[in-house]
Amino acid sequence: MRAFLKKISHPFLKLGLRLYYWKPRTFCYDNISIKVHPEVFPPQMTFSTKILLDFINDLDLKQKTFLELGCGSGIISLLAAKKGADVTSSDINQIALDYLATNASKNKLQLKIVHSDLFDKLKNQSFDYIIINPPYYPKKPKNIKEQAWFCGENFEYFEKLFVQLPSYLATANCYMILSQDCDVEKIKAIGLKKALTFEVVLEKKELVETNYIFKVVSL
Ligand SMILES: C[S@@+](CC[C@H](N)C(=O)[O-])C[C@H]1O[C@@H](n2cnc3c(N)ncnc32)[C@H](O)[C@@H]1O
Repeated sequence: MRAFLKKISHPFLKLGLRLYYWKPRTFCYDNISIKVHPEVFPPQMTFSTKILLDFINDLDLKQKTFLELGCGSGIISLLAAKKGADVTSSDINQIALDYLATNASKNKLQLKIVHSDLFDKLKNQSFDYIIINPPYYPKKPKNIKEQAWFCGENFEYFEKLFVQLPSYLATANCYMILSQDCDVEKIKAIGLKKALTFEVVLEKKELVETNYIFKVVSL
């Protein structure tokens, strides 16, 4: 994990990202084409978004309620909407949400877009599916862009998430992707304090990185 933290803070990688992302970039999946703002998590730079896209593409989402918690570019939300789901997309990054509104209308897809810190603005709602691609590196984010990557020095993102999540699990199938590069055992231990366990439903090795999709369930 430390090696990956070094990787993403490596000056050449940072410079490369800054040069590529000096302007909004286009990303496409299944004929959905979006523009991604430089301040928003880049779906084309990591494997996680693509793995989740392939995963939800295989689900029957017709007339299902679907939440993408921390939607970033929202490409996963847009695919779910295309597959007939009733989609809510939330994020703490307002630029991501503004871009998503434009991208949804350009692709003629409908979503509910909610600015929310985790579930704060989603209380008393229920969902059939909740999809989470969380920030998982333990460092304090310096700005909104870094919140896509860093979960706080003491995993504060997960501490709060796992307090809020259990009340949604009576109805929801919750899937979360994590990489081998992060401290999976620490994250599982935070979940366990709130009686949450993680079942691996998919393991995918891409080049040097293995990602896992977990179903998060209440004990
Ligand atoms: C790794 S990115 C994933 C983005 C998108 N779901 C995807 O798969 O491409 C994590 C996202 O979570 C958002 N995020 C981080 N902390 C959050 C919080 N406390 N509440 C809501 N969203 C948050 C970030 O802004 C970012 O868009």
